[in-house]
Amino acid sequence: MRDNFHDRIRLPSLREKVTSAAAAAHWVRDGMTVGMSGFTRAGDAKVVPLALAERARHEQLKITLMTGASLGNDIDKTLTEAGVLARRIPFQADPALRSAINRGEVMFVDQHLSETVELLRTRQMAPIDVAIIEAIAITETGAIVPTTSVGNSASFAILADKVIVEINLTQSPELEGLHDIFIPKRRPQREPIPIMSVRDRVGTTAIEIPPEKIVAIVITEKADSSSNILPPDAETAQIAGHLVDFFKNEVKQGRLTESLLPLQAGIGTIANAVLAGFIDSPFEHLTMYSEVLQDSTFDLFDAGKLDFASGSSITLSPQKSRDVFANIGRYKDRLVLRPQEVSNHPEVIRRLGIIALNTALEADIYGNVNSTHVLGTHMMNGIGGSGDFARNAYMAIFATKSLAKGGDISSIVPMVSHVDHNEHDVDILVTEVGLADLRGLAPRERARAIIGNCVAEPYREMLRDYVERASRRGGQTPHLLEEAFSWHVRYRDTSSMLLPLEEARLRA
Ligand code: COA
Repeated sequence: MRDNFHDRIRLPSLREKVTSAAAAAHWVRDGMTVGMSGFTRAGDAKVVPLALAERARHEQLKITLMTGASLGNDIDKTLTEAGVLARRIPFQADPALRSAINRGEVMFVDQHLSETVELLRTRQMAPIDVAIIEAIAITETGAIVPTTSVGNSASFAILADKVIVEINLTQSPELEGLHDIFIPKRRPQREPIPIMSVRDRVGTTAIEIPPEKIVAIVITEKADSSSNILPPDAETAQIAGHLVDFFKNEVKQGRLTESLLPLQAGIGTIANAVLAGFIDSPFEHLTMYSEVLQDSTFDLFDAGKLDFASGSSITLSPQKSRDVFANIGRYKDRLVLRPQEVSNHPEVIRRLGIIALNTALEADIYGNVNSTHVLGTHMMNGIGGSGDFARNAYMAIFATKSLAKGGDISSIVPMVSHVDHNEHDVDILVTEVGLADLRGLAPRERARAIIGNCVAEPYREMLRDYVERASRRGGQTPHLLEEAFSWHVRYRDTSSMLLPLEEARLRA
C-alpha cells in the first residue's frame, strides 16, 4: 500500500511525516481536546483513535473529543471502553457511549451541529489541541482534501495547534472536487454567506492550512462503516403517503410548485423511508439542502426525481455504497459536501426556504417535540441538526410512529418529558395514523388536530379525556400538572403507558 501514497501527498516535503498510527497518537496527551473528522459514520478518522484506545490500556489518557457528528468503526465504543472519553461533543449514536453517558461517566454536550465551531472560533469553549482528519489527499500546497464528510473538519484543522492526517486509500480519489469549504469571517467583519441556491459553490475544494501544522500522516485502508438504518416498512410508507398527499395539496393551493422547496431529511430509518416515498410521487426536479445524504438521496437521483443535493456527509447501506462510490462520477456534478456550519446555517436555511423533515421520539398534544431523551432522562443520540433546521425552516415537519415498544409507549403524550423543539417551531406532525397541520393554530386547536389525526386508539381516547379535563381548568395551554408526566411514570412502573383497564381490554 505504501507504493500508492505519493500520489496522495502531493506536497513532497510532507511525505517525511508519514508514520504509524501509534506514533501519531503520541501527539495527543492526557487532558487535551481533540477534534476529529467524522459525520454520521462517514469520513471519520479511523486508526489514530484506535491507537489512542490502545495507549489508554497502559497509561492515564483522558480527552475531550469533538467530532462533526456520530462515528463509525466502533470508534466511540472502543474509546469509551478504554476509558479515554472525559467529554464528548456535539453528537453520538453509539450504544456503549450512550450507556456511559447515561451512567454519568462521560460528560456529553448535546449541541446544535451548526454551533460547535462558532463557539470554538470565538473561544467560548476550550480550544482544540490536536485535529485528526481523514483525507483523500494532501494537495501541492498542503491543503487537506476531505473524504465522505466535511462536518467540522475544516475549522478543527484551522483552529488546532497540530494536525494529524489519515490518508485513506479506500476512499476514491474521484471524490476530490466534491467539497466546498467556506469559513465565515470573524466578527465584526462577518459577511452574508453567499449561497443563493443549493447548487452554489462559495469556497475551496480543500481545507487550507499552513502545511507545517501537519505533524503526522498515517496511511490507512479502513473503510467507512455502512449506515445501519432499516429499510422502509408499512408504517414508514404510510407516513410518506400522508406527506405526499399533504404536498400535493400545497401545490394545488398554489403555495408550492411541483419541485417543492429544497428538502432536508434528518437521520434515521423514518426520515430515509419518507424521502424514499417521494420516488412514487408527482413531484419533479426536487433539490436537497440537507446534512446527511442517505440511500434515499441516490434512489431519488436514479429515479430522475432529484436534480441536486447539498449535504455535509454521505452515509449509505453496503449495497448502495458499492453502487454509488463505484460510479461517483455519475453523481458528482449534482452533489456538494459543505462544512456543517454552512449546511446547517440558520441564515441559509431561512433564505432558501427549506422544508425540514426530522424525527421525534415523542411529541405532545401541543406540538412540543422531544428528539433526544428517552422518558425525559436518558440520552438517545442528541439533537444533531434538527434544531438548526426546524427553527429556521420554511416548514418544520416532525415524523414519528404513533407507538413504540410494541404499543407500550405512545409517541404522543400529554406533555413531552424533554423539549428539543417547542410548539413555536413545529409546523406539521405526522405519524402513520395521519398528519396534523399546525400552522396558524392556537394551542387548543393544535391539541384537537394532533389527537384527532396522529394518535391511535386507545391512546386517542385517553388523550381526549386528559385534554377535556385540563380544558375545564382553563388556560392558554391547558394541563393537569399532577398528571402531565403520569404516562411516563406508568411506563416506568408497569412497562406500559396504558391504564390498567385499557391494557386488560387490549390483551383480552
Ligand atoms: N420512548 C422511548 N423509546 C422510543 C420512543 C419513545 N417515545 N420512540 C421511539 N423509541 C425507540 C424505538 O423503540 C427505537 O428503539 P430500538 O432502537 O431499541 O428499536 C429507537 O427509539 C429508534 O426509533 P425509530 O422509530 O426506529 O426511529 P429512528 O431510527 O428514525 O430514530 C431518533 C429516531 C429520534 C432517535 C433519531 O431520528 C434521532 O436521533 N434524532 C435526533 C437527531 C436528529 O434529528 N438529527 C437530524 C438532523 S440530520
